Amino acid sequence: MSSLTDLNEKIAKCDACRLCKQRKRAVPGEGREDAEIMFIGEAPGWHEDQQGRPFVGPAGQFLDELLQSIGLKRGEVYIANVVKCRPPSNRDPLPDEIGACRKWLDRQIELIKPKMIVTLGRYSMARFFPGATISKIHGTARNSEGVTYFAMYHPAAALHQGSLRGVIMEDMLKIPSFLTQAEAAAEEPSPQKAKKAEKMEKVEKVEQTEPKQLSMF
Ligand code: URA
Repeated sequence: MSSLTDLNEKIAKCDACRLCKQRKRAVPGEGREDAEIMFIGEAPGWHEDQQGRPFVGPAGQFLDELLQSIGLKRGEVYIANVVKCRPPSNRDPLPDEIGACRKWLDRQIELIKPKMIVTLGRYSMARFFPGATISKIHGTARNSEGVTYFAMYHPAAALHQGSLRGVIMEDMLKIPSFLTQAEAAAEEPSPQKAKKAEKMEKVEKVEQTEPKQLSMF
């Protein structure tokens, strides 16, 4: 059993907060275990709770279209949520529920090791862009420790506010070039790695020259 499957089983049984009492199913997430891009939404809705799968309702249909617009299928990325169980009546998740679920998302990121994390909506953004405002930073990226974080409006926002549909579609189209940059950055040696390599080179040079010097005595 893969570590991610094992993790999903643990999430399915989680009872760390009140949301476990009313869920039909927990929704751990789905997609490629070695996905380069991870999309992170807010919390499951009714459809997701029924099926145990993320983004399978109307917002999910729009997410599928968005993925298609950049030549991706959901099976090629990883899709997860900040909170793994549906808040009653689709209310916003509460701080203690987000806190109780944090370890699951942390572990998913650790196992999948995505090069790019796309935050969908405010709750996901708050985790990776603390203090930011979605209307200001949507469509922008930041890099930290080799991972590119890219903020987007939640696809459901377009269902409530039609004018955001075009904005979300435009932001999505920026992902391929950010991903190319993220891939290039991941291949570049980090400053620490470059220093280590420099040191190793010096040691090798000394090892090569020392026997010659010794032979002179
Ligand atoms: N909205 C989310 O944030 N996540 C889902 O899985 C579905 C809708």
